[in-house]
Amino acid sequence: MPRPKVYVTRRIPREAMAILEAYCDCRVFAQEDTPVPREMLLAEVADVDGAFVLLTERVDDELLAAAPRLRVVANMAVGYDNIDVAACTRRGVLVTNTPGVLTETTADLTWALLMATARRIVEAQKVIERGEWRTWSPMFLTGQDVYGRTLGIIGAGRIGSAVARRARGFDMTILYHNRRPNPDLEAETGARYAGFHELLEQSDFVVVLVPLTQETHHLINEDALRRMKPSAILINASRGPVVDETALYKALTEGWIWAAGLDVWEREPIGPDHPLLALPNVVALPHIGSASIATRTRMAVVAAENLVAGVTGRRPPNLVNPEAWDRRPAAAEGADQGG
Ligand code: GLV
Repeated sequence: MPRPKVYVTRRIPREAMAILEAYCDCRVFAQEDTPVPREMLLAEVADVDGAFVLLTERVDDELLAAAPRLRVVANMAVGYDNIDVAACTRRGVLVTNTPGVLTETTADLTWALLMATARRIVEAQKVIERGEWRTWSPMFLTGQDVYGRTLGIIGAGRIGSAVARRARGFDMTILYHNRRPNPDLEAETGARYAGFHELLEQSDFVVVLVPLTQETHHLINEDALRRMKPSAILINASRGPVVDETALYKALTEGWIWAAGLDVWEREPIGPDHPLLALPNVVALPHIGSASIATRTRMAVVAAENLVAGVTGRRPPNLVNPEAWDRRPAAAEGADQGG
């Protein structure tokens, strides 16, 4: 049997590359650390069985049409809003993600952002860098307390639950809002389920960790922001379009809320001219939630394992669209090799 062909859209850690190369013939977009140009991507996928992609690649009908042999798309991320999963499922293309391995690392970053925003860490460093630190002063760079306050988590799945576990160490009251109550989280952390509006109105910290879907697009809009306390802090470590940035700008400049910590943006990457960066009460990060060396390596390995499983006829461990398993061309041909 010929070795499966796969396309890898960026240079990835060698541990992951070794897994791919053991089973597949690989081509890699290795020219630079930027997304592969769309036209090149469409040409590169023309003959491949599998694609290893990042959240910077859009996998849609156009790409699928350009990739008639494609059987597996392995996303190196837990979120997969860059992929039209329904379109993949219609064509029997398996889609995989990397859940689990980035949970704790992303919860750590969410907390780093929360603490930095509450205590004005970035602003404080800039004061020193500008030579503006003249003396100790009673109300100089005073921020918000974290301990003992109320944390509201919107989207308490794996990462949200890990954020809640950390909050116990700060003696916080924990509220959460999900589509469904999460009794395990309640038992483990004492978190209490709250309605969306109740959570917004009562929380000192509103942490957004929902996946981006049609329902969550601009979930944090003008109405939501107006419901928050004037002393509240918004933290977004999910996907940028969950927050309406125009409404957020108004909220921050008109004092509806106190500050925001953002790891993700409506249109990434942003540059220094982004309006929110001009505000002192914004802490801005370039989408680094899962970016520890160990975790990014594990994510690449997991994505590689998913891809190899799919292109060698096995059911990938992290299959996002199980319905596609029975629709894949191999199943139609009766060539199922197990799974
Ligand atoms: C990163 O944002 C991810 O979804 O893994």
